Amino acid sequence: MHHEFWHQRWQQNQIGFHKQEINPLLERYWPKLSVNPGARVFIPLCGKSNDMLWLLAMGFQVVGIELSPLAIESFFADNGLQPSVRRQGDFLVNEIDGLQIFCGDFFALRPTDLGEIDAVYDRGSLVALPADMRIEYVSSLYAMLSTNVQILLIAFDYPQHEMPGPPFSVQREEVESLYAHWCDIELLNSENALENEAHFKDRGLTRMAEQTYRLVVR
Ligand SMILES: C[S@@+](CC[C@H](N)C(=O)[O-])C[C@H]1O[C@@H](n2cnc3c(N)ncnc32)[C@H](O)[C@@H]1O
Repeated sequence: MHHEFWHQRWQQNQIGFHKQEINPLLERYWPKLSVNPGARVFIPLCGKSNDMLWLLAMGFQVVGIELSPLAIESFFADNGLQPSVRRQGDFLVNEIDGLQIFCGDFFALRPTDLGEIDAVYDRGSLVALPADMRIEYVSSLYAMLSTNVQILLIAFDYPQHEMPGPPFSVQREEVESLYAHWCDIELLNSENALENEAHFKDRGLTRMAEQTYRLVVR
């Protein structure tokens, strides 16, 4: 997906992926990871997700990266927050106490740009990318993350021919092929997503599972 695609989505407010409420799968399954209070949680392709505020309220430090300045402005404005902004290399970093959002391209991040990461929350990130970019995305994560980092990954599994992405279908076999050589993988939950996401039915889907994985870097 090219940058222009996402900039347009934000400009035209076509952001059906954004949810006002906290993701119930995050609330339910984050405690299955053993992430210590104060740990630094990375949220790639974070949009303006309110899940960042939930993690902050749970006592974690949060670091996100998002391409769209509009998304970041909107996140802080919607929540009545006034970030300070500084430049770090190619990125503008918007921050409040405990939360940093890097504005720029995930794929331009160097492994050292973010500092130490203890955990990753991936909802709407891997699945936002087409297959060739998913390989690149995971190899960037591989370069950034050290042993014992835990990842909560939420992915969709649906017949790809029924709907063009995003979100793309990322089935268990692909999760294995992307992560098994460097992470232990546990499927925590798989549930029918068509009930709650009726608009995907309208886009032609006959089946859609939302799957939550715990990955631990070996
Ligand atoms: C499907 S949305 C999910 C946002 C968020 N994770 C959520 O759950 O609401 C994907 C987001 O990734 C951003 N994005 C896409 N490509 C990116 C890139 N190369 N670097 C940083 N952000 C990117 C888009 O602007 C969009 O906000």
